[in-house]
This record gives sequence, structure tokens and C-alpha cells, in this order.
Amino acid sequence: MSERSVRDLVDELTLEETVALTHGASDPSDRATGYVRGIERLDVPPLRMVDGPLGVRVPGEEATAFPAPLALAATFDTDLAETHGAALGRETNGMDADALLGPGTNLIRVPQNGRNFEYFSEDPVHSAAFAAAVTRGIESEDVVATPKHYVANSQERYRASVSADVSERALRELYLPSFRAAVDAGAGSVMTAYNGVNGTRMSDHARLLRNVLKGEWGFEGYVVSDWFGTEDAAAAANGGLDVEMPGVPMGEMLPGDADAEDGPVEMPEELARGMPDAASCERFAEVLAERVRDGTVPDARLDDMAERVLRQLADIGRLDGSRTEGAVDTPEHRRLARRVAERATVLLKNDGVLPLADDAAVALVGPNVDAAVLGGGGSSETTPVVQSTPADAVTSRADGPVSVAYGLPPVEAVSMFDLLEGADEETADASTRDPEMADALAAAAEADVAVVCVRDTATEAMDRESLRLPGRQDDLVEAVADATDRTVVVVNSSGPVELPWRDDVDAVVENWYPGQAHGDALAAVLYGDADPSGRLPVTFAPESAYPTSGDERRYPGEDGVVHYDEGVFVGYRHLDREGVEPTYPFGHGESYADYEYVDADLADGTVHVTVENASECDGREVVQLYVEPPEDGEVERPPRELAGFASVEVPAGERVEASVDLAEHAFDVYDEGAGWTTPPGEYALVVGRSSRDARLELAATR
Ligand code: NOJ
Repeated sequence: MSERSVRDLVDELTLEETVALTHGASDPSDRATGYVRGIERLDVPPLRMVDGPLGVRVPGEEATAFPAPLALAATFDTDLAETHGAALGRETNGMDADALLGPGTNLIRVPQNGRNFEYFSEDPVHSAAFAAAVTRGIESEDVVATPKHYVANSQERYRASVSADVSERALRELYLPSFRAAVDAGAGSVMTAYNGVNGTRMSDHARLLRNVLKGEWGFEGYVVSDWFGTEDAAAAANGGLDVEMPGVPMGEMLPGDADAEDGPVEMPEELARGMPDAASCERFAEVLAERVRDGTVPDARLDDMAERVLRQLADIGRLDGSRTEGAVDTPEHRRLARRVAERATVLLKNDGVLPLADDAAVALVGPNVDAAVLGGGGSSETTPVVQSTPADAVTSRADGPVSVAYGLPPVEAVSMFDLLEGADEETADASTRDPEMADALAAAAEADVAVVCVRDTATEAMDRESLRLPGRQDDLVEAVADATDRTVVVVNSSGPVELPWRDDVDAVVENWYPGQAHGDALAAVLYGDADPSGRLPVTFAPESAYPTSGDERRYPGEDGVVHYDEGVFVGYRHLDREGVEPTYPFGHGESYADYEYVDADLADGTVHVTVENASECDGREVVQLYVEPPEDGEVERPPRELAGFASVEVPAGERVEASVDLAEHAFDVYDEGAGWTTPPGEYALVVGRSSRDARLELAATR
């Protein structure tokens, strides 16, 4: 439908109809997480929104459970990310929904953040590239993408009540780029964060919504609130918010309690710290028409809000019936979920024990080896039709004997929903299994190699208490490593974790939250059917080494304010400045192949790098490009910043040329007065295998 006819449609709407397009309501089919009523009189269909970044969540229904976005980001492959986004879009469409509430594109600032698994990276160039690719994919399937949570939603603890005190430079250089990239890639919607930024709630933030997002970036889609994230309807509408969600009481959002009213919902204290206050949310349905009638919100603003929603319905072919068909849980999506999980796996360390020999006697040890790690808790939970567990997949892949031993009681997943429904962590999914560690040690002692699987737990609305693995898993790893000659540890985590035993084991594999294909993908990597070509999108370091550690001002905040005092020095930028050695640096990942960096040259903003695979196995290398600023610059800058990357297949014994485009602001700093500026001087372009593994260097004068 053309622009003109969308505007004609708006002209035909009554005030009540216009307002109805700006807020949530109950979905008569009880399937959508966000539902905007249609206008039957004018043949406008309803708009259905569903979560989320790991796959489609429609309560009671099944869909492909894809690897977590952090895992996808570990592939460093934006073509794969676009394919992944398209599959997410196709499933959204296949579920008869119109908008997907993703991708999650917040920059990873706090390593304990309970939702890091839903995000991409601690680096803005990397995060922006993935935000753009996934958005392009989703939108290519006639589905509205919803990058979230705009902006500076860096923690779950106090997420609904804190304000992030953050400099304009840090916003521009770190926190805004992924949203900008998603908008440029065609995102039809943006979700505001619960938190405030510099004292103003994001749902009312006129400067960041009206001036930056809609003004500077030319965003033409609709801005939707996070659920129960608004407080003052007029301030939000005038500030640039277009759609208020969910428009129904909190109780109605919880499974199985459709009649619940607003009012205090019982929840444990640590969860309450991360939940919005539904009772203080001012709804557009109740007050917006009145605010328009009394002139507090201009008529033109209301029309613009509705027009933005209608334009998205038009863009995805819902107004003229031209929308493509969607599909859920197809063989292609199952294969993709597995491919991404394989490609995302990061070989943190390998003394040669991997890949496993086909006929090796393997002891597969770990409290959760009989379960697939589908994701973390909260709105991103997805229920798949099929799933493969490490125990089943390794047993069926191996030619040698495999003994399975748990060693410890299962690590129970934590879910915001279970806690909201009153289940506590102990009783949720309670298992009666009570294994002995001695059994696991005996199995390990008899095998050629022990593979120990360990995991963390994470959920929306709560941060992890620490970066240590829960329960006695560290003890289990130590004991197995003592009991056997060769130990491989497989870690399923939502972000960085501490690995205190890493020097005592022979290989460490970071396997993230791999989704429904967990077991099959892991078995393929362990036996060398697939090269672990993932690289770290987050620095692994002791908890004390991160810039948000040891200072409550910075995290979790003081008196309702989180001070981003570290400025632009987040993640590896901080460790590099401080001269602190990470456990495993940003960009790190071993391979079964062996790469030599032969040559690099710069031409027209692209660095061409020749890489040779000097081994006998095919591999996939991630070529990374970092910029180092001139040494005598006036502004303090990170010692090294990612400027681009490329993932390339390099067959055994061959040479391949990788082309890495320099990011738009690769040489720039953001100056609060002058905007993006390029301090003149001699820059180094460092080509390498990680932020700490430089292989070639070029010079660039600016
Ligand atoms: C709150 C979460 O923060 C957001 O990411 C999600 O999309 C909505 N709830 C809807 O479930």
C-alpha cells in the first residue's frame, strides 16, 4: 500500500480508532505477547507482536529454539546472521504474528547481566554488524524487527528504576551504534528500555527518541514501550513513544491467569528488583484521548503515532494481502539451528586432546548432560519440537564406548516466569536425582578421555550473583582432572564465567546457550566433524578485572543512578588501558586448523588479508582488524578498537583473501561539541586473530 493511502486511512480514523492503534489490548486468541487491535470497519487487521531473540515464543506452542544471540555473534559471520534473522522472521510469520520483539542489541557492559545471552557483544562495531544483519533477515520475511532495549539497558537488577548516567561520547561511540545500524537496516520498530538515561525515562526521552532516533537517523517506524515501562502517557507520547504495551494488567501476562487485575504481584525480593511496577504505568488506552482533547498531546502527534503503525502493517503486506508465507520448525530451520550452534562454539584452549578419536573411550560427565541448554529464563524462552542432549548425541556419534555420569545433582535453570508464579529456585523442575561424585570419577578414571559439561544459569529480571559456575561444578572439574589423564571441559554459559581450573585441563570449549541442537552440534565439534570456528564476543576475565567491578556507583548503582564513569572503556578497551591480562581476550578462539597471516594491504577503505591454512584440516578463520590511535593524541582513547572483521573458509593447505571493510567511524572520536571528528596523525591498522593476537600491521595517516 502506498504512502498516500496510509495517510488517507489515518484521515478516516475517529479519535477512538486512532488511539486504539497506539496501545496494547487483550489478544482474543491469547497468543500474542503484544496485541494492537485492528479497525474492522476499515479492513485494518490487528498487529501481533511476539518474543523474541532466541526463537518465537507463543505460550503453549512450539517453534525452533535457535542458539542464543551471543552464540550467533560468536560466529563473527554476518551472512549467517542474516540467514538466521530470516529464519526468525519466517517463524514469526508462520505463527501469524507481525512483529518480532528482537533482536536484543544492548552493548554488554556488565558481565553479570542476566540477559547477556540475548545480546551480541561488548564491542559496538561487532554488535552493530549483527544488529543490522539480523534485522535485515527478519524484515526480509515481511516481519517487523524490534531492536531493543533503546538504550543503555546494561543490567537487569533495578532495570526498571535506575537511570544510567552516561556521557554523550560513550552513548555515541558504544551504546547507540547497534540501534543506528538496525534502523539503517530497515527495522520497523524500536523498543524503549525500562531504565532512564541521564535522568529521563527512556519511554519519555524526547532527545533520544525524537531528536536522535527519528530526527537524526530518520527512523520512520513505531517506537514501542517495554512492557509496563511507561509512567506518564502525555510525556511519553510527546517524547516520541508511539505504542504503549501491553495495555493489559500484569496478571494477564502470566500464564494461566487471564482474569488477574493490576495490583501487587507477589514475587521474591531479588526478582522484584528487576520487575517494572505495573501499577504505576499510565496507559494510553485510559488517558491518551483525554490528553489529545485537552491539547496536552497535539492531534498531529496522535495521527503520526497511528500512521507509523499502519505504515508497518502496509510494509509487511498486511493491508493489501501481499504478505509472503511463513513457516515454523522446518527441516531447513532445524539444520540452521545446528549449523549456527556448531559455528558458534569457541575452542578456548586445546592441548591436542581434541578432536576426539572416533574410537576413544569417553566418560561424559556433568550434572546436566541429559538436557539441552535451550536458553535463559524470561521473555526469550522458546519451546522446541525436537532437542538433542549431549548424552544422546555423543553416545550415538562415538565408535568407542561412552559412559555417562552426572557427578552432581542437576543445576536447575532459573526462570523469571517460575519465580513470578511462586515456584522458588529449589523446587522449580526439582529432580530427585542424587548422584555421587565418586561414580563420575570412577567413570573418568577408566576412560581415555573425560568430557565434563558445566553450565551457568541466567534469567531476565535478575543478574547473576557472580561469574563463578553455580553449585560444586568447579570442584567436579578439578576432581575429574585429577582422576584422569585427559580432560575436556565444555561450558554452557550466558556470558563470561571464571574458569579457575583451566590450567589443569587439556581443552576448554565455550558452547554458550546452543538451543535445540545442543547435543548434535557439540558432538560434531568434539569429534572434528565441524571446526569450532567461534570467537569470543566478550572478554573472559576474573570478575574483578571488569570496569564495573568493585564500585557500586558503576554497578549496580547508588541512589537510583548507575554512573558509567568508565566512559568508553568497556570490555577489552578497559583491560587494554589498564594493562590487565584477560583470561581469554575478545576475539579469541582456537581452531583445528592452523592459520598463517601472509599479507595485508589497504585499498579504498578495505583491508585485503591473505590467510593460509597450514594444516591438514579445512577450517574457517575470523580475520579481525583493529585500529590503534596516534600516540600523542589530545583525547584519551582505547589503545585498540575493532574496526572490522570477516569470517572466511580456508580449505586445508590453501590461501584465501579476506576483505575487511573499515567501519564508518573507525578513526573517529565523538566530540560533544563538534560531533564525529578524526584526530589527525599516524594510525596503526592491526590485523590479527584476537584483540591480543596481532599478526600484521599497516599504517594509515589521517
Ligand atoms: C519485557 C522484556 O524486557 C522485553 O524484552 C520483552 O520483549 C517484553 N517483556 C515482552 O515480553
